[in-house]
Amino acid sequence: MSPLSFDILALLADGRFHSGEAMAKALGCSRTLIWQAVKELGDDMGLEVFSVRGQGYRLAEPFELLDVAAVRQHLSPAAGETLTVAVANQVDSTNTQLMQRANGGGLHGLVLAAEMQSAGRGRLGRRWTMRPGAGLTFSVLWRFELTMSELSGLSLAVGVALARCLRRMGAPVTLKWPNDVLLGEAKMAGILIELSGEANGPASVVIGIGLNLSQPGAIDQPVACLADAGLRPSRNALLAGLLNDLHDVLTCFGQRGFDGLREEWSDLFAHRDCPVVMTFSHGEPVNGIARGVAASGALQVETARGLETFHAGEVSVRRVA
Ligand code: BTN
Repeated sequence: MSPLSFDILALLADGRFHSGEAMAKALGCSRTLIWQAVKELGDDMGLEVFSVRGQGYRLAEPFELLDVAAVRQHLSPAAGETLTVAVANQVDSTNTQLMQRANGGGLHGLVLAAEMQSAGRGRLGRRWTMRPGAGLTFSVLWRFELTMSELSGLSLAVGVALARCLRRMGAPVTLKWPNDVLLGEAKMAGILIELSGEANGPASVVIGIGLNLSQPGAIDQPVACLADAGLRPSRNALLAGLLNDLHDVLTCFGQRGFDGLREEWSDLFAHRDCPVVMTFSHGEPVNGIARGVAASGALQVETARGLETFHAGEVSVRRVA
């Protein structure tokens, strides 16, 4: 995407009509360049732009652009002290960017949010795509004085932070093991955690979060969004709210591990006492009743063989109707 497209997006973000002539004047370029960049908004970003003769261009679904000062305004004092927030128009992936910083001495508490990712990544090698403005995509770099094995419940802890914030706003979200945020049975947010560091030494972690605010566009599975819960918050205030809860939860995790959050996670568990089927990369699926999680964050399921424990990465779980 050209920088000019983002400049135009910033002008159109107010949802009003802007003439090609006025935008060309404001941005110091020709009307032809404006026309080409507006076309990019539709063709490359998937945004719908109305074009009306005599009035100009208007975004069909205007949205608030991310802004560091506006985010900082809503941070709690504790989060504001620890977090350094940066916003980018476009990156390959906020996780990729912060993993590079993690390996190069990047700051503890560094946050990178992006309006657009050209190579957003999900779990299990999947892609994560989102139309600009349709959600939040951001990552946090956090350094723990914990070993890799002590971090096993971290992705569940992050789910607790997201659920705390979203439920306080009025969205009745629940958590799917290990770490999807659900509204009803559809996924509203995903979490990708990547680790760097020595197995026995302090670990640096990049926590990537993608949250749908409105329907994200071309996705091959049913997804939920905050608008489905009747909520259309300020994107900057929401990002700050999520960061405040993440700050608190990560601090608690650093002191007490997942054990300090286990009960809260269990209360948010979407499939507690529900029949589930577990599938593995090898072997037959296993049916059982999901009961809860162990102190490590592993899933506990009552199967024909008794209460069994399953670890994230080795299994995927689905509710049975
Ligand atoms: C999943 O559910 O598969 C996890 C999705 C995580 C997506 C976020 S968007 C911000 C961050 N950057 C990425 O490339 N991925 C994560």
